[in-house]
Amino acid sequence: MQKINSIMEGACGNKMGMVFLLWLFAAALVVKAEDPYVFFDWKVTYGKLSPLGVAKDAILINGKLPGPTINSTSNNNIVINVFNELDEPLLFHWNGIQQRKNSWQDGMPGTMCPIMPGTNYTYHYQVKDQIGTHFYFPSTDLHRSAGGYGALTVHSRELIPVPFDWPADEFYIFLSDWYNKGHKELKKTLDDGQTIARPNGLVINAKHGEVGDKMEPLATFEAGKTYRFRVCNVGMRTSINFRFQGHNMVLVEMEGSHTVQNDYDSLDLHTGQCLSVLVTADQEPKDYYLVATSRFFKQQLSTVALISYANGKGAAAAELPPPPPDNTEGIAWSINQFRSFRWNLTASAARPNPQGSYHYGQIEITRTLKLVNTKGEEGGKLRYAINGVSHKDPDTPLKLIEYFEMADKVFKYDLMPDEPAGDASKITVAPNVKNATFRNFVEIIFENHEKVIQSYHINGYSFFAVAIEPGKWSPEKRKNYNLVDATSRHNIQVYPNSWAAVMTTLDNAGLWNVRSEMWERFYLGQQFYFSVLSPARSLRDEYNIPDNQLLCGAVKGKPMPKPYTI
Ligand SMILES: *[C@@H]1O[C@H](CO)[C@@H](O)[C@H](O)[C@H]1NC(C)=O
Ligand SMILES: *[C@@H]1O[C@H](CO)[C@@H](O)[C@H](O)[C@H]1NC(C)=O
Ligand SMILES: *[C@@H]1O[C@H](CO)[C@@H](O)[C@H](O)[C@H]1NC(C)=O
Ligand SMILES: *[C@@H]1O[C@H](CO)[C@@H](O)[C@H](O)[C@H]1NC(C)=O
Repeated sequence: MQKINSIMEGACGNKMGMVFLLWLFAAALVVKAEDPYVFFDWKVTYGKLSPLGVAKDAILINGKLPGPTINSTSNNNIVINVFNELDEPLLFHWNGIQQRKNSWQDGMPGTMCPIMPGTNYTYHYQVKDQIGTHFYFPSTDLHRSAGGYGALTVHSRELIPVPFDWPADEFYIFLSDWYNKGHKELKKTLDDGQTIARPNGLVINAKHGEVGDKMEPLATFEAGKTYRFRVCNVGMRTSINFRFQGHNMVLVEMEGSHTVQNDYDSLDLHTGQCLSVLVTADQEPKDYYLVATSRFFKQQLSTVALISYANGKGAAAAELPPPPPDNTEGIAWSINQFRSFRWNLTASAARPNPQGSYHYGQIEITRTLKLVNTKGEEGGKLRYAINGVSHKDPDTPLKLIEYFEMADKVFKYDLMPDEPAGDASKITVAPNVKNATFRNFVEIIFENHEKVIQSYHINGYSFFAVAIEPGKWSPEKRKNYNLVDATSRHNIQVYPNSWAAVMTTLDNAGLWNVRSEMWERFYLGQQFYFSVLSPARSLRDEYNIPDNQLLCGAVKGKPMPKPYTI
């Protein structure tokens, strides 16, 4: 492993050599003895929760929210038998897990048939080198508003050093907004063409707390020790700032990359994003609050959780550390914070994407997509779009339609142009599938002309988040990109009237969702799929459809296509 890494570094700049070495790398993985398995049985049910005093049906896994942690090491096989005991079809998505060659198991409505109520389905996938903090959540309907989430962590293999000392313990923090209305009611509101508007409050690990409330501590420190907090924003739409009373945070990891270890008083985390911080118990032993507040909302929402010290004496102070500035000044503050996130190039941990190149600044861009989000209407109903197209899932998952070669009957490729064209207010509602060329190195600009912050995620890949700036993008802006040590991640925020640029190599064959992580927008069309087909239909590029893949709709009962071959 170490050796391959150093060969890879030596080969940079020579594309052919790189491709050969990558192939060698892939081959090395295949011939290894079978990788270890991690098994889970999940029973998914409703259970009443009322963090803000109003009870609703939440989605629990094995009776809990947050659900069980999937703790894994790179190359582990993850096998999860999901028993759907809800009254609605269900899928889970593994946010941040790249599913190499395996969009079959990606768990999006466009890639898999849902697990029907009263039945079970077993996911099987392998985690690779996305060393760090990720999460899973239900991707169907508005289930995300009801919970059903949990942590998915990937550790480095033994012998690969991690660039910080092993913490005394680690804690999972799920920041989220919360709607008092149930997920069915929220879905009906959107189906009727209305907005679900603002959430009712914020929660940490599905609990809401106010200063002075009696609370169970979320973490108990021993004086002098250092702890890792793995923090994700699993909410529906709200960007959240979080901070500890009296304690600094050292950022060490972000969505699978080890970062340069800077200190922060507070951090902004947007929907769908994760990171890890180290916190040292270096204060007087008593109670402290962890504080979370909404960002860029007219009316600020907030919540607290409790951190205690073993043998600590004294309640947490009522005075909370103030939030960073909001509005225009707050956007500048937040963009500056984004720019401080750098990849630690000397950390010897596995590269998050060894199959791609990490000398990304030297690769020629083969395609640029400029994606502009819009809000509009169709037939008097609220819709959201990207470059004028508002995605709608057909009855049969697109991946299966494509595999069974029935695409010409169900959808048109490339309805959405690479950059906005024509009347921005016009919206077409249709399946939104973009053809992509296998192994192309693409630049994607997300440009936001709205007053609402955006958050985007790409499945199947990590990308280099090279720039965020106010205003409009133009090719000259490329000179401002961070082409050296941008973090490799899978989610990026786009501030109001601003743009963000990311770069990635489309080297993972499959069908991959690109979406707004803001769930009203996602549900009403602000998403599309990249169809990255390997022309070879070869097992080298993509796994065969799993034997247990659920078939539904138009492909049910159809003769199976010829399997892929070596
Ligand atoms: C998670 O996995 C790592 C690596 O195998 C192990 O060291 C750690 O103790 C595990 N954590 C939990 C909470 O099981
Ligand atoms: C459903 O669960 C049973 C074990 O209880 C298992 O044998 C079977 O393979 C599962 N079915 C699917 C489709 O995963
Ligand atoms: C980067 O990682 C190296 C190697 O583990 C570590 O020694 C160094 O402190 C890290 N650098 C920064 C700036 O975080
Ligand atoms: C998109 O991909 C499909 C399936 O491979 C192909 O039939 C179609 O011609 C492609 N369209 C374009 C515009 O490349």
